[in-house]
Amino acid sequence: MKFFVDTAEVDEIAELNDLGMVDGVTTNPSLIMKSGRDILEVTKEIADMVDGPVSAEVVATDADAMIAEGRKLAKIADNIAVKVPLTWDGLKACNVLTNEGNMVNVTLCFSANQALLAAKAGATFISPFIGRLDDINLDGMELISDIRQIYDNYGFETQILAASIRTVNHAFQSAMIGADVMTAPPKVIKQMASHVLTDKGLEAFLADWEKTGQKIL
Ligand code: E4P
Repeated sequence: MKFFVDTAEVDEIAELNDLGMVDGVTTNPSLIMKSGRDILEVTKEIADMVDGPVSAEVVATDADAMIAEGRKLAKIADNIAVKVPLTWDGLKACNVLTNEGNMVNVTLCFSANQALLAAKAGATFISPFIGRLDDINLDGMELISDIRQIYDNYGFETQILAASIRTVNHAFQSAMIGADVMTAPPKVIKQMASHVLTDKGLEAFLADWEKTGQKIL
């Protein structure tokens, strides 16, 4: 499973990238707003730092303007994935930008039928939003599972990018179902390392070690 980091905070990406944990990055207009940075500048900085795809999202809503924005974003670096929303115009833009040789991430996906259309339009990535479905008492994981089944039924190559991951359980379940990629905030990726029994066990080992009076270094 590939790990993308869902943030536009360069320092946080750098910390995980140094650990070899980063296969790509996703940003969106809200994350750019939170970073307080210029989209072209910060996206370039991120794309230069990481080897994998860096998603940068268009903000136009009609296909022609999305295509124009997508072309501009794609020029930032070779590893840019243009992010377009899952609307009819977004699908048109996806098809054109894909045919021009760009990676395209179709975002804001909330149904399996939407994901089927994105695959038909040639999307590189489909981003089903798990957390936002859970927010309205629907089952985000069922959506990941349905898309996996449909893509496998027909051999679609579009990669399932589990997005809106809010908890370590979302990460675990996405991996179990077979999402190709998950994108999560750095905090969630770090929380995946934690276990109460690890903490307790380490505490006990260190207490016993103290009693030996020995030193390794
Ligand atoms: C994905 O590409 C989105 O940027 C992100 O996962 C949205 O997450 P949220 O629903 O927690 O805002």
